[in-house]
Amino acid sequence: MNTIKIEKTESKESGWETFNFKSFQFGETPTDHFFLAEFKNGKWVNPRIEPFHSLTISPFALCFHYGQTVFEGMKAFRQDDGKVHIFRPKKHHKRFNRSLERMCMPEIEEELFLNALEKLIQLEQHWIPKEEGVSLYIRPFIIATEPRLGVKIANEYLFCITCTPMGLYYPKPVRVKVETDYVRAAEGGAGYAKCGGNYGAAFFATKKANEQGFDQVIWTDAKTHEFIEESGTMNLMLFMDNKLVTPKLSSSILDGVTRSSILQIAKDLGIQVEERPVSWKELKEQLESGNRVELFGVGTAAVISPISCVQIQEVDYFPYIENDAVMYRLKKELDNIRRGRTTDKYHWNHFI
Ligand SMILES: Cc1ncc(COP(=O)(O)O)c(C=O)c1O
Repeated sequence: MNTIKIEKTESKESGWETFNFKSFQFGETPTDHFFLAEFKNGKWVNPRIEPFHSLTISPFALCFHYGQTVFEGMKAFRQDDGKVHIFRPKKHHKRFNRSLERMCMPEIEEELFLNALEKLIQLEQHWIPKEEGVSLYIRPFIIATEPRLGVKIANEYLFCITCTPMGLYYPKPVRVKVETDYVRAAEGGAGYAKCGGNYGAAFFATKKANEQGFDQVIWTDAKTHEFIEESGTMNLMLFMDNKLVTPKLSSSILDGVTRSSILQIAKDLGIQVEERPVSWKELKEQLESGNRVELFGVGTAAVISPISCVQIQEVDYFPYIENDAVMYRLKKELDNIRRGRTTDKYHWNHFI
């Protein structure tokens, strides 16, 4: 792999100088540059960073037809001392490759992935202001570009990394319903991969739930619809009986980086952690028992998302979301690591 060529924007004013960091919609504004590389003749070539621009792709490109698209989602932060880091890029890289393998797409070497990220974030770090709350969301993705209408595994691909600012995310409690009709992913399917099709396939049930006043659905396993899996773009966790409980990973659940971080933080705080199947019946029993039950989602975007209402079999239940809930303590610990306020003992912060 050759070195990464960098072409800087010629525009006198960079986007960040005029960008309103106090009020903006997530995901609308790209930063000034992005990374690109092509896969041709069996290898990744021409790695480069260019001013952000649209792409020209053949309407025959295989990504438009048979779903070979894989992506990642991670963040870069500025610490209190001004230093910028990317959070756990090596773990994201491993998941990226697992997704690529599942979709028969070419993997990316860790060196290229990290090098591309470091160079790009060095260039775009002005998009992370000093004030707490704004981070830089990083979206690496790979699409099949070979122009061919026949159903086949492509042999040409494009790898890009784009960035967009992400604002202070107030963890507004969400309303969810346990979904027992529709399925997001089945055992042996591609649910553990971060491929575009998983998200498209989730829209229909989520839209129906939205129409009924819910923000998200909690997916259940495809075979029995008894065990809860994940929700939207978050893994699920419960705090009950002084234990942090989360559904065990399987081929139908995404191996969330936030999930793994929160589990480690909980263990370090002396909280007992259980990764095991969790049925909606157990959740229902716990909520009906009058015990304090916290239910929340964890993911890169929200970090933690408290769940204020969960509908199970047409009945609404109200998990605990008051200020002294354990989930906020876990979130604070994670924030402290990211801001450099506490020791990053697992070296999750990858400085650029
Ligand atoms: C389906 C799904 N589950 C869980 C997660 C949480 O994963 P992470 O913590 O790595 O963002 C995400 C977000 O990436 C997701 O899209």
